[in-house]
Amino acid sequence: MTTNEGQVALVTGASYGLGAMTADYLARDGFDVAVTDLNVDDLADTIALIEKHGRKAFATSLDVRSVDSIDAAIAATIEGMGKIDVLINNAGVPLSKPALDVEPDEFDNVQNINVRGCYFMCQRFARHLVDTDRKGSIVNLASTFAVIGVPGVSVYGISKAAVAGITRHLAADWAKYGIRVNAVGPGATETKIRAANFAANPEVREWNLSRIPMGRFGEPEDTAEAVAFLAGSKSEYINGHLLVVDGALTVT
Ligand SMILES: NC(=O)c1ccc[n+]([C@@H]2O[C@H](COP(=O)([O-])OP(=O)(O)OC[C@H]3O[C@@H](n4cnc5c(N)ncnc54)[C@H](O)[C@@H]3O)[C@@H](O)[C@H]2O)c1
Repeated sequence: MTTNEGQVALVTGASYGLGAMTADYLARDGFDVAVTDLNVDDLADTIALIEKHGRKAFATSLDVRSVDSIDAAIAATIEGMGKIDVLINNAGVPLSKPALDVEPDEFDNVQNINVRGCYFMCQRFARHLVDTDRKGSIVNLASTFAVIGVPGVSVYGISKAAVAGITRHLAADWAKYGIRVNAVGPGATETKIRAANFAANPEVREWNLSRIPMGRFGEPEDTAEAVAFLAGSKSEYINGHLLVVDGALTVT
Protein backbone atom coordinates (compact mmCIF):
# COMPACT_ATOMS: atom_id res chain seq x y z
CA MET A 1 0.00 0.00 0.00
CA THR A 2 1.47 3.35 -1.05
CA THR A 3 1.11 6.33 1.25
CA ASN A 4 -1.41 8.14 -0.96
CA GLU A 5 -3.65 5.16 -1.70
CA GLY A 6 -7.36 5.93 -1.36
CA GLN A 7 -6.72 9.66 -1.87
CA VAL A 8 -8.26 11.61 -4.76
CA ALA A 9 -6.40 14.42 -6.55
CA LEU A 10 -7.95 16.92 -8.96
CA VAL A 11 -5.72 18.55 -11.61
CA THR A 12 -6.81 21.58 -13.67
CA GLY A 13 -5.60 22.14 -17.24
CA ALA A 14 -4.57 18.48 -17.44
CA SER A 15 -4.81 17.76 -21.19
CA TYR A 16 -1.24 18.59 -22.12
CA GLY A 17 2.15 19.61 -20.81
CA LEU A 18 2.79 19.90 -17.10
CA GLY A 19 -0.80 19.09 -16.11
CA ALA A 20 -0.81 15.77 -17.97
CA MET A 21 2.63 14.81 -16.62
CA THR A 22 1.53 15.74 -13.09
CA ALA A 23 -1.59 13.56 -13.37
CA ASP A 24 0.67 10.69 -14.50
CA TYR A 25 3.03 11.17 -11.50
CA LEU A 26 0.17 11.47 -8.99
CA ALA A 27 -1.25 8.15 -10.25
CA ARG A 28 2.23 6.64 -10.00
CA ASP A 29 2.32 7.79 -6.37
CA GLY A 30 -0.98 6.10 -5.52
CA PHE A 31 -3.61 8.78 -6.09
CA ASP A 32 -6.83 8.31 -8.00
CA VAL A 33 -6.91 11.34 -10.29
CA ALA A 34 -9.70 13.59 -11.57
CA VAL A 35 -8.62 15.66 -14.55
CA THR A 36 -10.26 18.78 -15.90
CA ASP A 37 -9.83 21.15 -18.81
CA LEU A 38 -11.75 23.52 -21.07
CA ASN A 39 -12.63 20.66 -23.43
CA VAL A 40 -13.27 17.31 -21.78
CA ASP A 41 -12.52 15.43 -25.02
CA ASP A 42 -8.89 16.61 -24.87
CA LEU A 43 -8.37 14.63 -21.64
CA ALA A 44 -8.47 11.13 -23.20
CA ASP A 45 -4.68 10.69 -23.36
CA THR A 46 -4.26 11.81 -19.74
CA ILE A 47 -6.97 9.38 -18.60
CA ALA A 48 -4.99 6.59 -20.28
CA LEU A 49 -1.80 7.66 -18.41
CA ILE A 50 -3.63 7.46 -15.06
CA GLU A 51 -5.29 4.10 -15.77
CA LYS A 52 -1.94 2.63 -16.86
CA HIS A 53 -0.95 2.82 -13.17
CA GLY A 54 -4.10 0.91 -12.16
CA ARG A 55 -5.67 4.04 -10.65
CA LYS A 56 -9.19 5.37 -11.04
CA ALA A 57 -9.58 8.33 -13.40
CA PHE A 58 -12.38 10.82 -13.91
CA ALA A 59 -12.70 13.66 -16.42
CA THR A 60 -14.89 16.74 -16.43
CA SER A 61 -14.84 20.11 -18.18
CA LEU A 62 -13.83 23.23 -16.27
CA ASP A 63 -13.25 26.86 -17.15
CA VAL A 64 -11.57 28.50 -14.15
CA ARG A 65 -12.78 31.95 -15.29
CA SER A 66 -16.27 30.99 -14.07
CA VAL A 67 -17.02 30.27 -10.41
CA ASP A 68 -20.17 28.43 -11.55
CA SER A 69 -17.98 26.18 -13.69
CA ILE A 70 -15.63 25.63 -10.72
CA ASP A 71 -18.57 24.64 -8.50
CA ALA A 72 -19.98 22.32 -11.17
CA ALA A 73 -16.62 20.58 -11.76
CA ILE A 74 -16.02 20.08 -8.03
CA ALA A 75 -19.56 18.73 -7.55
CA ALA A 76 -19.19 16.38 -10.55
CA THR A 77 -15.84 15.13 -9.24
CA ILE A 78 -17.22 14.49 -5.75
CA GLU A 79 -20.12 12.60 -7.33
CA GLY A 80 -17.80 10.59 -9.58
CA MET A 81 -14.94 9.96 -7.13
CA GLY A 82 -16.64 10.33 -3.71
CA LYS A 83 -14.39 13.17 -2.45
CA ILE A 84 -11.33 15.28 -3.28
CA ASP A 85 -8.21 15.32 -1.06
CA VAL A 86 -5.69 17.18 -3.20
CA LEU A 87 -6.02 20.08 -5.66
CA ILE A 88 -3.41 20.94 -8.29
CA ASN A 89 -4.02 24.40 -9.77
CA ASN A 90 -2.14 23.93 -13.03
CA ALA A 91 -4.40 25.78 -15.52
CA GLY A 92 -2.76 28.96 -16.70
CA VAL A 93 -2.09 31.15 -19.71
CA PRO A 94 1.08 33.01 -20.72
CA LEU A 95 1.43 36.49 -22.19
CA SER A 96 4.63 37.78 -23.76
CA LYS A 97 4.26 41.47 -24.54
CA PRO A 98 6.26 44.61 -23.74
CA ALA A 99 4.65 46.43 -20.82
CA LEU A 100 4.27 49.61 -22.92
CA ASP A 101 1.91 47.78 -25.31
CA VAL A 102 -0.32 45.77 -22.94
CA GLU A 103 -4.09 46.38 -23.34
CA PRO A 104 -6.41 46.35 -20.29
CA ASP A 105 -8.39 43.37 -21.65
CA GLU A 106 -5.19 41.34 -22.01
CA PHE A 107 -4.23 42.19 -18.45
CA ASP A 108 -7.68 41.20 -17.15
CA ASN A 109 -7.76 37.90 -19.07
CA VAL A 110 -4.45 36.69 -17.64
CA GLN A 111 -5.31 37.73 -14.07
CA ASN A 112 -8.80 36.18 -14.38
CA ILE A 113 -7.41 32.77 -15.31
CA ASN A 114 -4.11 32.69 -13.42
CA VAL A 115 -5.07 34.55 -10.23
CA ARG A 116 -8.85 34.70 -9.75
CA GLY A 117 -9.27 31.16 -11.11
CA CYS A 118 -6.59 29.83 -8.77
CA TYR A 119 -8.04 31.67 -5.76
CA PHE A 120 -11.61 30.44 -6.19
CA MET A 121 -10.49 26.88 -7.01
CA CYS A 122 -8.67 26.95 -3.65
CA GLN A 123 -11.68 28.41 -1.86
CA ARG A 124 -14.25 25.98 -3.27
CA PHE A 125 -11.98 22.98 -2.63
CA ALA A 126 -11.23 24.14 0.93
CA ARG A 127 -14.97 24.53 1.62
CA HIS A 128 -15.42 20.89 0.55
CA LEU A 129 -12.70 19.81 3.02
CA VAL A 130 -14.02 21.91 5.89
CA ASP A 131 -17.63 20.80 5.24
CA THR A 132 -16.55 17.14 5.34
CA ASP A 133 -14.11 17.67 8.24
CA ARG A 134 -11.08 16.35 6.34
CA LYS A 135 -7.50 17.51 5.82
CA GLY A 136 -6.08 18.16 2.35
CA SER A 137 -3.36 19.67 0.24
CA ILE A 138 -3.16 22.24 -2.57
CA VAL A 139 -0.29 22.81 -5.01
CA ASN A 140 -0.40 25.92 -7.20
CA LEU A 141 1.68 26.31 -10.36
CA ALA A 142 3.58 29.58 -10.02
CA SER A 143 6.76 30.32 -12.00
CA THR A 144 10.27 31.61 -11.57
CA PHE A 145 8.74 34.87 -12.86
CA ALA A 146 7.00 35.09 -9.46
CA VAL A 147 10.34 35.96 -7.87
CA ILE A 148 12.49 37.61 -10.58
CA GLY A 149 11.87 40.44 -13.05
CA VAL A 150 12.14 39.50 -16.72
CA PRO A 151 11.69 41.80 -19.75
CA GLY A 152 8.52 41.40 -21.83
CA VAL A 153 6.42 39.23 -19.52
CA SER A 154 5.15 41.65 -16.86
CA VAL A 155 1.46 40.65 -16.97
CA TYR A 156 2.23 36.95 -16.67
CA GLY A 157 4.95 37.55 -14.06
CA ILE A 158 2.60 39.68 -11.94
CA SER A 159 -0.01 36.91 -12.10
CA LYS A 160 2.47 34.30 -10.91
CA ALA A 161 3.69 36.58 -8.09
CA ALA A 162 0.03 36.73 -7.04
CA VAL A 163 -0.15 32.92 -7.14
CA ALA A 164 2.82 32.84 -4.75
CA GLY A 165 0.93 35.31 -2.55
CA ILE A 166 -2.26 33.21 -2.64
CA THR A 167 -0.13 30.26 -1.56
CA ARG A 168 1.37 32.02 1.47
CA HIS A 169 -1.85 33.66 2.65
CA LEU A 170 -4.11 30.64 2.28
CA ALA A 171 -1.49 28.42 3.96
CA ALA A 172 -1.57 30.77 6.96
CA ASP A 173 -5.38 31.01 6.89
CA TRP A 174 -6.15 27.32 6.57
CA ALA A 175 -3.37 25.61 8.55
CA LYS A 176 -5.88 25.37 11.42
CA TYR A 177 -8.04 23.12 9.24
CA GLY A 178 -5.13 20.86 8.27
CA ILE A 179 -5.12 22.22 4.71
CA ARG A 180 -1.62 22.70 3.30
CA VAL A 181 -1.04 25.16 0.43
CA ASN A 182 2.25 25.07 -1.48
CA ALA A 183 3.48 26.18 -4.90
CA VAL A 184 5.94 24.99 -7.51
CA GLY A 185 7.76 27.55 -9.63
CA PRO A 186 9.06 26.00 -12.83
CA GLY A 187 11.67 27.73 -14.92
CA ALA A 188 11.31 27.49 -18.71
CA THR A 189 10.21 23.91 -19.29
CA GLU A 190 10.17 22.32 -22.70
CA THR A 191 6.66 20.97 -22.99
CA LYS A 192 5.65 20.16 -26.58
CA ILE A 193 3.93 23.54 -26.94
CA ARG A 194 6.88 25.43 -25.44
CA ALA A 195 9.37 23.52 -27.61
CA ALA A 196 7.35 24.44 -30.72
CA ASN A 197 7.37 28.11 -29.68
CA PHE A 198 11.12 27.98 -29.11
CA ALA A 199 11.64 26.29 -32.50
CA ALA A 200 9.90 29.26 -34.13
CA ASN A 201 12.04 31.73 -32.12
CA PRO A 202 15.53 30.23 -31.80
CA GLU A 203 17.04 33.50 -30.52
CA VAL A 204 14.53 33.54 -27.63
CA ARG A 205 15.43 29.92 -26.86
CA GLU A 206 19.16 30.72 -26.79
CA TRP A 207 18.66 33.80 -24.57
CA ASN A 208 16.63 31.79 -22.06
CA LEU A 209 19.07 28.87 -22.11
CA SER A 210 22.09 31.13 -21.60
CA ARG A 211 20.63 32.35 -18.29
CA ILE A 212 20.28 28.89 -16.70
CA PRO A 213 23.36 27.88 -14.66
CA MET A 214 22.67 24.17 -15.14
CA GLY A 215 22.73 24.68 -18.91
CA ARG A 216 19.46 22.97 -19.77
CA PHE A 217 15.74 23.68 -19.76
CA GLY A 218 13.45 21.90 -17.36
CA GLU A 219 11.69 18.72 -18.42
CA PRO A 220 7.99 18.23 -17.54
CA GLU A 221 9.15 15.36 -15.29
CA ASP A 222 11.19 17.79 -13.14
CA THR A 223 8.10 19.83 -12.30
CA ALA A 224 5.73 16.85 -11.97
CA GLU A 225 8.06 15.24 -9.39
CA ALA A 226 8.07 18.43 -7.29
CA VAL A 227 4.28 18.81 -7.51
CA ALA A 228 3.68 15.16 -6.58
CA PHE A 229 6.01 15.52 -3.57
CA LEU A 230 4.26 18.64 -2.25
CA ALA A 231 0.82 17.12 -2.92
CA GLY A 232 1.41 13.89 -1.05
CA SER A 233 1.93 12.69 2.49
CA LYS A 234 5.76 12.79 2.35
CA SER A 235 5.66 16.60 2.68
CA GLU A 236 3.16 16.78 5.53
CA TYR A 237 5.00 19.52 7.50
CA ILE A 238 5.77 21.69 4.45
CA ASN A 239 3.21 24.48 4.20
CA GLY A 240 3.21 27.85 2.43
CA HIS A 241 6.36 27.06 0.46
CA LEU A 242 7.29 28.03 -3.12
CA LEU A 243 9.62 25.38 -4.53
CA VAL A 244 11.40 26.65 -7.64
CA VAL A 245 12.45 24.01 -10.18
CA ASP A 246 14.79 26.05 -12.33
CA GLY A 247 18.36 24.76 -12.63
CA ALA A 248 19.54 27.57 -10.27
CA LEU A 249 18.15 30.41 -12.44
CA THR A 250 16.71 32.38 -9.54
CA VAL A 251 19.78 32.21 -7.31
CA THR A 252 22.08 33.91 -9.83
N1 LIG B 1 6.00 25.37 -19.42
C1 LIG B 1 6.69 26.28 -18.72
O1 LIG B 1 7.81 26.61 -19.09
C2 LIG B 1 6.13 26.88 -17.45
C3 LIG B 1 7.00 27.62 -16.65
C4 LIG B 1 6.50 28.17 -15.47
C5 LIG B 1 5.19 27.98 -15.11
N2 LIG B 1 4.36 27.27 -15.93
C6 LIG B 1 2.96 27.13 -15.50
O2 LIG B 1 2.61 25.76 -15.42
C7 LIG B 1 1.25 25.57 -15.80
C8 LIG B 1 1.17 24.59 -16.96
O3 LIG B 1 2.00 25.06 -18.00
P1 LIG B 1 2.11 24.32 -19.42
O4 LIG B 1 3.35 24.83 -20.06
O5 LIG B 1 1.89 22.86 -19.26
O6 LIG B 1 0.87 25.01 -20.17
P2 LIG B 1 -0.12 24.48 -21.32
O7 LIG B 1 -0.52 25.69 -22.09
O8 LIG B 1 0.46 23.31 -22.05
O9 LIG B 1 -1.34 23.97 -20.44
C9 LIG B 1 -2.18 24.87 -19.76
C10 LIG B 1 -3.52 24.21 -19.61
O10 LIG B 1 -4.42 25.15 -18.99
C11 LIG B 1 -5.65 25.05 -19.66
N3 LIG B 1 -6.43 26.28 -19.54
C12 LIG B 1 -6.21 27.49 -20.14
N4 LIG B 1 -7.18 28.35 -19.81
C13 LIG B 1 -8.03 27.69 -18.97
C14 LIG B 1 -9.23 28.05 -18.30
N5 LIG B 1 -9.78 29.27 -18.44
N6 LIG B 1 -9.83 27.14 -17.51
C15 LIG B 1 -9.31 25.89 -17.38
N7 LIG B 1 -8.19 25.48 -18.00
C16 LIG B 1 -7.55 26.38 -18.79
C17 LIG B 1 -5.30 24.76 -21.12
O11 LIG B 1 -6.39 24.21 -21.84
C18 LIG B 1 -4.14 23.79 -20.95
O12 LIG B 1 -4.56 22.45 -20.87
C19 LIG B 1 0.70 26.96 -16.14
O13 LIG B 1 0.08 27.52 -15.01
C20 LIG B 1 1.97 27.74 -16.48
O14 LIG B 1 1.83 29.13 -16.29
C21 LIG B 1 4.81 26.71 -17.09
